[in-house]
This record gives sequence, C-alpha cells and structure tokens, in this order.
Amino acid sequence: MKITIIGTGYVGLVTGACLAEVGHEVFCLDVDQRKIDILNNGGIPIHEPGLDQVVARNRAAGRLQFSTDIAASVAHGDVQFIAVGTPPDEDGSADLQYVVAAARNIGRHMTGYKVIVDKSTVPVGTAGKVAAAIANELKSRAVDIGFSVTSNPEFLKEGAAVKDFMEPDRIVIGHESDAEGLQAQAVMREVYASFEAAGRKIYWMDVRSAEFTKYAANAMLATRISFMNELANLADKVGVDIEAVRQGIGSDPRIGPSFLLAGCGYGGSCFPKDVQALSRTAQEYGHDLRILAAVEEVNELQKQVLGKKVHARFGTNLQGKRFALWGLAFKPDTDDMRAASSRVLINELLRAGARIAAYDPVAIEEAKRVLALDFADAPQLIEQIEFASDHMAALPGADALIIVTEWKLFREADVAQVRDQMNAAIIFDGRNLYEPAKLKALGIEYHAIGRAI
Ligand code: NAD
Ligand code: UGA
Repeated sequence: MKITIIGTGYVGLVTGACLAEVGHEVFCLDVDQRKIDILNNGGIPIHEPGLDQVVARNRAAGRLQFSTDIAASVAHGDVQFIAVGTPPDEDGSADLQYVVAAARNIGRHMTGYKVIVDKSTVPVGTAGKVAAAIANELKSRAVDIGFSVTSNPEFLKEGAAVKDFMEPDRIVIGHESDAEGLQAQAVMREVYASFEAAGRKIYWMDVRSAEFTKYAANAMLATRISFMNELANLADKVGVDIEAVRQGIGSDPRIGPSFLLAGCGYGGSCFPKDVQALSRTAQEYGHDLRILAAVEEVNELQKQVLGKKVHARFGTNLQGKRFALWGLAFKPDTDDMRAASSRVLINELLRAGARIAAYDPVAIEEAKRVLALDFADAPQLIEQIEFASDHMAALPGADALIIVTEWKLFREADVAQVRDQMNAAIIFDGRNLYEPAKLKALGIEYHAIGRAI
C-alpha cells in the first residue's frame, strides 16, 4: 500500500520505517529540513536501538523516502498518518496546532479518496477537528472528495520502539460506523494485515474510545508508578523493602509485575503531558479527576527525593562537595531529556553549591543543550558540572555517587571498584539497582528508594 507519514519524529520515523519493513511504500514528510537531510544522508536524528538498520534496509529497497515536499506527500499516500507532536499548551491541554496544520495540508492538496489516521496522542474529539479542517479546505477549493478519519494511537516505548511497533501487545483502531467508516476499516485492516496474520490482536472500536484508550493507558501506568513511589517513601519510614513488596504483589496476576518499580519519578515526553491533558479533558467536562491530580503531584515530589536525601546526609549547603552522577536521560536507551528527573536533581545540587561529574552513555550532548536552557538565569553554575568520558571516570574525588537512570551498564557495575574510586563510599540510588545487603557487606552506605531495611 502507499502510505504517507506526516511528522518524521520519534513515532513518525518508527511507524514509517516499520510499515516499510512489512512491505508498504512509505513517504515520510517533515517540516524540519535538518531532520530530512540527516535521513537522506543515511543518518538517524534520534537514538533508538535497531532503528538505523530498519531505515537503511528499507531506503535501499526503495520502500522508504524522506521529504519536505507537502504536495508530493499528499499525492503519495492513500493512507495519511498524522504523527506530529501534541505538546502541552499553557493550560496543560494538548496543543493541536500541528495536527490541524497537517490536516489542512491534506485538504489543500488531496485529489482522491484518503484515509487519514490520527497516530499522534490526541484528546477525545480530535478526529472531528481533523475532519473539519480537511472539509474546510475542500470547500474553499470547491471540490467534493471523500475521506475518512480514523484513530490509531501508538503505544511504543522509547528505547524499545522498533520491537514494540513490530511486535505490539495490541493494535487499537477507531473508525466511524457509517459506510465511509467501514471502508476506512477495510483499508486499515490491509495496512496491518501482516501484523494480524502474525497473530497480533487488533481492537476495533469507535473513534472517541480509541482516542481515550491512549490516555487511559498512560494514565494507568503513571498511576502505578506514583502509587509505588508513595509506598516506597512510606517503606523508607517503616523499615520495609519495597522490592520485596513489589515481588509479593506483582505475582498476583490481577496486579501483574510490570511498571511497579519505585524510583526517582517518571519523566519523558509522554506521561507528564498525557496525565495533564487527560486532567484537562476532565475539567472541560466538569469532572474532577482527583486521582490524576495526585499522580502528578506525587511525581513532582518524587523527582525531588534524591536531592532531599543528599541534603539530609550532607546538609543544606553543598559548597565544596562533589558528586558523581550516573544517568541523565529520562530512561535508558534514549538520549531524550524531556522532563528527566536528572534535571531536577542537577538544579538542586548546583544551586546548593555542589560540583557534579556526570555520565550518560548517550544523552550528554542533549543534556548540555537542555541544561543551558535550565540555567539561563545562572549560566556560571553550568561550569560546576563536568561530563565524564565513562561511568568510572566520573567517580574520582566524589563524596557520593548518585544514580538517576536505570542503564544496564550501571546495574552491572563492579560496586567494590566503584567504592574504591570515590572519596567516600556512599551511593544514592534513584533506581534501586543494587542489593542493599551486598553493599552493606562491602562497607558502602546505600540510600535507595524504599529499601531502608
Ligand atoms: P516529535 O517531536 O519527535 O516529532 C514530531 C515531528 O513532527 C517533528 O519532527 C516536527 O518537525 C514534525 N511536524 C510538526 N508539524 C508538522 C507538519 N505540519 N508537517 C510535517 N511535519 C510536522 O514527536 P513524537 O515523540 O514523535 O510524538 C508524536 C506524537 O506521538 C505525540 O502526540 C506523542 O504524544 C505521541 N507518542 C509519542 C511516543 C514516544 O515515545 N515519543 C509514543 C507514543 C505516542
Ligand atoms: C510511555 C509508555 O510506556 C508507552 O506505552 C507510551 O507509548 C509512551 O509513554 C508514549 O505515549 O509516548 P516512555 O515514556 O517511552 O513510554 O517510557 P517508559 O518506559 O514508560 O518510562 C517512562 C518513565 O517511567 C521513565 O522515566 C521510567 O524510568 C519510569 N518508570 C517506568 C518507573 O519509574 N517505574 C517503572 O516501573 C517503569
């Protein structure tokens, strides 16, 4: 099939490359010339394991092309995926300006029937707005061309995006139930035919329910994390090991083992904004989603937990103290620094007078960029952070090691060697990577999240 992807960011690029991988002819559009140039020169603008091979293979096979040419992109695809960003507006609601701009472009240039697919995470009712934007353009061109808008939210995780897309737990597709909607359903079935043939389950539903399902999923996951973080903070006070509790409750199939890891808060481009946007939708309908307000508040506080533990140990003034910091990205296997807990910690430590030697396997360049923005009011503080060439090189002279991201490299570190490299054998672990008993036996003072046993 001929498919166009509008927006070649995280989701658009993965979607485009993976749909080419299953045999479709894919045209990826972006307004960002820099991104398109990188891709056309054989590069990848994001760090995502395995994506470079899928892109290279399908470009070479002639199934995947990248361009900034809007007219050509609309002409190419019988199916037009909208995968542009939906960042938070000032009031927390999803900013739909990029989605609507993409829809207008489709309406401006289309000459035959199209199925439009909302892939971006969008609030309930957005398909109607997309349809209205296209219809307006068609009206101003005085043409009558059929189209149908479907909703196909994406559930991939950064760092595992290719696998998540190619082997999804489920595919959710919302379509209208009128004749055009059923025609669109048949087209979408063809898009995902190879996935269905491989036994992947498609959940067909109405468009609004599909739009809502995406927010419900992220809100549920964020709630589980905040709930475990609340329990972990209590566990610290009452002398309970949250890891043992996690295993004890996760073994109940009604609860399940995933997404119960306590830590220094969730970050990224999605949980924070989607929790906010769902709360905003609720407000618009006069409904108070109290649980989500708490989820958000707990997470904001949780990002401060490491800073508080450091202050409790070293005092409020951290002048003359030096900390090794392992992990900058909001999670492993990505260089994404959006809403990363490391930013809250770095802000706290540097403003309290500390020096930091930080290391992350892939996020250092991105960290430099975002920290310059975070410290725009005090650029001299940035000089107090240096970036190490590897994780062990961050340790010499450190008064403590602080771990913020759960990279495998850190989990597998030789902790005895870590101890020997530092000034003091103290570890603050925001991701519960080690066994407290083992570290105690090695003479390491270990401050984790909910593991004060
Ligand atoms: P992104 O910022 O990485 O990419 C969006 C791209 O769209 C950018 O490259 C931008 O230049 C381009 N763009 C904007 N307007 C355009 C237009 N009119 N025409 C063509 N291109 C345009 O964003 P992302 O992380 O890929 O997220 C996209 C959507 O997918 C969001 O709604 C997000 O919530 C959702 N989502 C993201 C993830 C994730 O892991 N990143 C997972 C699931 C869902
Ligand atoms: C999340 C969802 O997992 C995806 O299904 C969804 O498609 C995506 O958001 C989205 O809508 O964009 P992502 O943000 O890439 O994916 O990463 P996650 O693996 O979900 O991690 C998010 C944050 O939660 C990270 O900061 C991670 O450290 C934290 N986390 C995760 C915990 O603190 N505890 C856990 O048990 C799991």
